[in-house]
Amino acid sequence: MSETSHVFSRQLAIYIHWPFCESKCPYCDFNSHVRNSFDYEKMGNAYIKEINTLQNLFPKESKKIGSIFFGGGTPSLMPPILVNKILSTLEECWGFTEQIEISIEANPNSTDTERLLGYRNAGVNRLSLGVQALNDKDLKFLGRTHSYSDSLRALDKAAGIFPRTSIDLIYGRPKQSTSDWELELATALQLPVNHISLYQLTIEKGTPFYTDDRSKKFIMPDDNVQTSMFEISNFLTENAGFKSYEVSNYARPENMCQHNLAYWLYKPYVGIGPGAHGRIPVEKDSTGRIATRMHSKPETWLEAVLSNGHGIAGQSLLTMKERASEALILGLRLKIGINKKNFKYNTGVDIEETTISYEVETMKAAGLIEESDEFFRLTSKGRPLLNSILSRIALN
Ligand SMILES: C[S@@+](CC[C@H](N)C(=O)[O-])C[C@H]1O[C@@H](n2cnc3c(N)ncnc32)[C@H](O)[C@@H]1O
Ligand code: SF4
Repeated sequence: MSETSHVFSRQLAIYIHWPFCESKCPYCDFNSHVRNSFDYEKMGNAYIKEINTLQNLFPKESKKIGSIFFGGGTPSLMPPILVNKILSTLEECWGFTEQIEISIEANPNSTDTERLLGYRNAGVNRLSLGVQALNDKDLKFLGRTHSYSDSLRALDKAAGIFPRTSIDLIYGRPKQSTSDWELELATALQLPVNHISLYQLTIEKGTPFYTDDRSKKFIMPDDNVQTSMFEISNFLTENAGFKSYEVSNYARPENMCQHNLAYWLYKPYVGIGPGAHGRIPVEKDSTGRIATRMHSKPETWLEAVLSNGHGIAGQSLLTMKERASEALILGLRLKIGINKKNFKYNTGVDIEETTISYEVETMKAAGLIEESDEFFRLTSKGRPLLNSILSRIALN
């Protein structure tokens, strides 16, 4: 099966959000919370309840689940028995495809062998480890509670347990030079992984790093340095046999993250747990999507699930225009770009109806966009300029 053969398939993707972390990293604006105590048993039962309610609320389809992603927060704090229970419930509700990919995000200091084996035995077949940096000084700066040697130990174990292993690294850190990054990435590429996500450090509003950046407690690398680091990332990964398939993601052949691909291809997905978003399919219509958003605060979500069976804080049937705009933003992140038939299949709109033609022609003449009857994509020159190109070509 080719890696993108599910372009026209009617598979379903499931995202499960676990909102707790042992401590909060100063750069992170994800929906993650630190709690000294919580009724985890109640919480576990609420996931099962929400899955059952969503399956009944939304039309039962012939669709089977092609990918599941446990994200966070720190889902590697979930007891393996809960992961097992969630997976059996999902299988009972929708069924699994034969090639289902089940990923879990893990922090290097919550990866003892018993826990990892528990996840594997429950059906998880891909582990994504938040390594972030390969030296203890920068890990400390990032507020991480693990060391570089914790990451190495965790990866060694994971490689023997899971068929697919990925790591996340954050680059473009204050005081990091391009040669520091080159050396660090070269080392990372020797690790036993078949997928790697490289994220440029972003300063998010409301985080401690936002305040520190504004008060010049540290100085972020300038745009030229960031661009060079991105180019180094593309060059080194390619040389090491990893294909760049999305702005921040690199995979060895046949190892692209099937779950994230489902988002970028604008496939439907169900989001379960505090703060999770979903794009629920509308029955017998490949283009219909109901956008769902769960309550973010774990306590509020839990109360809502106990009273209503689900924690939905808001939902709306997306218009054709909204679907087309989302599919354009997501699809252009992929190196293969947008398959025009897939775009129409999932949104109901031709891509030409969602873009400003004279802006597209200008970008094509400048070598930033390329297009055929089949596809519409950014060139390697255009890819680093994704956001500014989108703001020019997208019809509002
Ligand atoms: C949901 S997080 C987490 C998984 C896990 N809790 C961890 O931190 O290892 C997914 C990834 O987003 C990246 N990330 C989070 N905030 C970021 C930021 N402000 N800038 C760049 N990357 C960020 C990190 O690499 C992180 O591993
Ligand atoms: S461990 Fe991950 S999710 Fe939790 S605060 Fe840190 S980056 Fe965010």
